[in-house]
Amino acid sequence: MKATLWLNRMDIAGEVDKRLFGSFIEHLGRAVYGGIYDPGNPLSDEEGFRKDVLDLVRELDVPLVRYPGGNFVSGYNWEDGTGPKDQRPRKLELAWRTIETNQVGIDDFQSWAKKAGSEVMMAVNLGTRGPDEARNLVEYCNFPGGSYFSEKRRANGYDEPFGIKTWCLGNEMDGPWQICAKTPEEYGRTACEAAKLMKLVDPSIELVACGSSGLMMPTFGEWERVVLEHCYDYVDYISLHTYYDNEADDIGEFLAKSLDMDTFIQSVVSICDSVGAKKHSSKKINLSFDEWNVWYHSKKTDAEMEPWQVAPPQLEDVYNFEDALLVGCMLMTLLRNAGRVKIACLAQLVNVIAPIMTNGDKAWAQTIFYPYLHASRYGRGISLKTAPECETYTATSGRKVPVIETASVWNPEKKELTLFAVNKTDQPVELETSLEGFGALQLDTHITLQGHDFKEANTADHPDNVVPKTDGKTTVQGDRAHSVLQPYSWNVIRLK
Ligand code: AHR
Repeated sequence: MKATLWLNRMDIAGEVDKRLFGSFIEHLGRAVYGGIYDPGNPLSDEEGFRKDVLDLVRELDVPLVRYPGGNFVSGYNWEDGTGPKDQRPRKLELAWRTIETNQVGIDDFQSWAKKAGSEVMMAVNLGTRGPDEARNLVEYCNFPGGSYFSEKRRANGYDEPFGIKTWCLGNEMDGPWQICAKTPEEYGRTACEAAKLMKLVDPSIELVACGSSGLMMPTFGEWERVVLEHCYDYVDYISLHTYYDNEADDIGEFLAKSLDMDTFIQSVVSICDSVGAKKHSSKKINLSFDEWNVWYHSKKTDAEMEPWQVAPPQLEDVYNFEDALLVGCMLMTLLRNAGRVKIACLAQLVNVIAPIMTNGDKAWAQTIFYPYLHASRYGRGISLKTAPECETYTATSGRKVPVIETASVWNPEKKELTLFAVNKTDQPVELETSLEGFGALQLDTHITLQGHDFKEANTADHPDNVVPKTDGKTTVQGDRAHSVLQPYSWNVIRLK
């Protein structure tokens, strides 16, 4: 099969905000306890943070980590996780029905994030709590000193304000599973008032309102419209969440799911702009895709989990090769929509539906670690419009799916062009790319993830089953690049 692609340096889809490569740590399962934090383990540092995990997080270069939830945040009292550790309460955690020991809280997480080289994206509880606690938390985190909550932070040993810039106004407040879920009117009003107070404390912060928990929600669309009617002038982003599965074990359908993600993004952009137009506003609301991933492998085990354990192994999906291909497609979808999607968080980062796994003495990279690594490292710059001309295949549902999916990013400082591509078929695809306006480019590397059984995965004992290689075939002649995209492959073609 043959495919053609025209890349022009002036054909810009949008500037890539580095926060597009964010991730997420929730107080859930072994993400915090046994994941990033494991005091007493020889692999941990003096604060109890796993050094091997920190190394892997730094390798990914994660610019932003959403915290502390997720569903967890809707029942969370942030004060419980501050002050002397031996005085912190053990509490019933209702979102995931576990015991929360509060040995890690916002102060400790700030220290961890600093070590990881990441900014924190803090979520406030708009479930059991509301605007008052939200503004107190902003004061605690961001106010320099001389007020009740800022002095509490200083007394807890954190003299300098945290300077947290990006804040989520609750989590999935439309979901019946959410602690104190709300109607769009209830949430829209609460989010608007919380936003007002939080920005009075620190006008420099940016706020994310909750969109629907997914495209499948019956209230999708109407939820976004009503919420934005209330808080358009006070917020900066609206959130999107999506998780895909291959329960049907149908590779053609599975790899088509990034098209749904694209539709989801386009729909939310339309709603934001229509509310803006109705309000005669010149302001644009951008998108925060702050939960996205593949999630289904662990659902059966989780349903059988005994409640009220401390940090049980929940949502521990073992990712395989086909998951890495779809995660690559989802990353390319985010890149192509970089004009409006400014924040995105791979959910989550460690142990819980995560690219990084740990046991007592090892940390290792799952298959999905690699497309995320490549996008984070080589996907920064200007995203270009990238629409290949290629054949389609017919998926089981009858829909036509282009045989390859692509995205490309030009880094003007480094004068590097990176082309990402997934071949979704069992045939090689010869891709001819025309390069316009980049000057003379030469091949640096063509990285691939390919040649594996769909179900092959990495494990503690075999962490290198599925790892990338620099064995891709690309040649460059003048303003043309010729690449072979192997059957079912993830490709990162780097031109300098
Ligand atoms: O990431 C796991 C869970 O998925 C989050 O807690 C919630 O927001 C979503 O439903």
